Amino acid sequence: MKAEILKLKKEKNAVILAHYYAPDEAQEIADFVGDSFYLAKKAKETRADIIVFCGVRFMGESAKILNPDKKVLMPDLTADCPMAHMVKKGKIEEMRNAYGDLSVVCYINSTAELKCQSDVCVTSSNAVKIVKALDSENIFFIPDKNLGSVVAKQVPEKNIILNDGFCPIHAKITCGQVLKVKTKHPEALILSHPECEKEVLDVSDFIGSTAEIIDYVKNCNADKFIICTEKGVEYKLLCDNTDKRFFFPEPCPCCVDMKLNTLKNILNVLKTESNEIVVDKEVSRKAIIPLNKMLEIAR
Ligand code: 13P
Ligand code: SF4
Repeated sequence: MKAEILKLKKEKNAVILAHYYAPDEAQEIADFVGDSFYLAKKAKETRADIIVFCGVRFMGESAKILNPDKKVLMPDLTADCPMAHMVKKGKIEEMRNAYGDLSVVCYINSTAELKCQSDVCVTSSNAVKIVKALDSENIFFIPDKNLGSVVAKQVPEKNIILNDGFCPIHAKITCGQVLKVKTKHPEALILSHPECEKEVLDVSDFIGSTAEIIDYVKNCNADKFIICTEKGVEYKLLCDNTDKRFFFPEPCPCCVDMKLNTLKNILNVLKTESNEIVVDKEVSRKAIIPLNKMLEIAR
């Protein structure tokens, strides 16, 4: 399958982008592997005619919005992020009416429709920097309450209003599970994604996006780490650090939607050019504004 994928990729001038949560086999064959921010930048820069996006729907959608003339294919169109939908209808309008000076800050893990109603997008690796750069004093942070709380703590000068969305995968990681691993490996450092619940973040040595966790490990002298995020990051961690050990809370966090990006599905979309992401033109016209604003401020 790998040989066939590589051949088709060349013939069709396609590029494969994969998130760190995609299956190992997808990360292995991808041209670029990264966190949401890196992949959004790569999607905007690429000269390929076809982008095969091994991630979840909001990632494929963002790639299409940033690159309307390209064909964006998803190995499985049902791969979705439940958190991307977790803002109640009418809530944004309600907040805009309640506050005169308000910026709606939208985590990229959100539907294109939510992006349309937002002022700027952020990812977990640039949210603090972007919120700090905004003029408004009041910030409505959607959809993730946990990333929003991390930002609120680091930007105390702003009034950050939280929404009650969350990632079901990260929310399942409990402090008890993490401390159980810590008891077995007391010298291990706890590294957590900001989508984890507060009780987990409070016992963590480092909080960062998937890419930031990977960088932290690379530049750290410690050799044992408890990783509080989706298991897929282990592939890159092991590739980069043959001398270090990684432990995950049990049961191991697994995003079933990300795991739909199998080699079989990648090959199928490259062959058939099916599973194309389509975004309504008007939605795309509005949603590109907060996405471009993110890319601009983060640069
Ligand atoms: P990153 O911003 O680290 O890519 O995380 C995206 C995500 O979906 C985490 O659950
Ligand atoms: Fe969404 Fe959570 Fe899966 Fe990330 S891990 S894509 S936030 S469900």
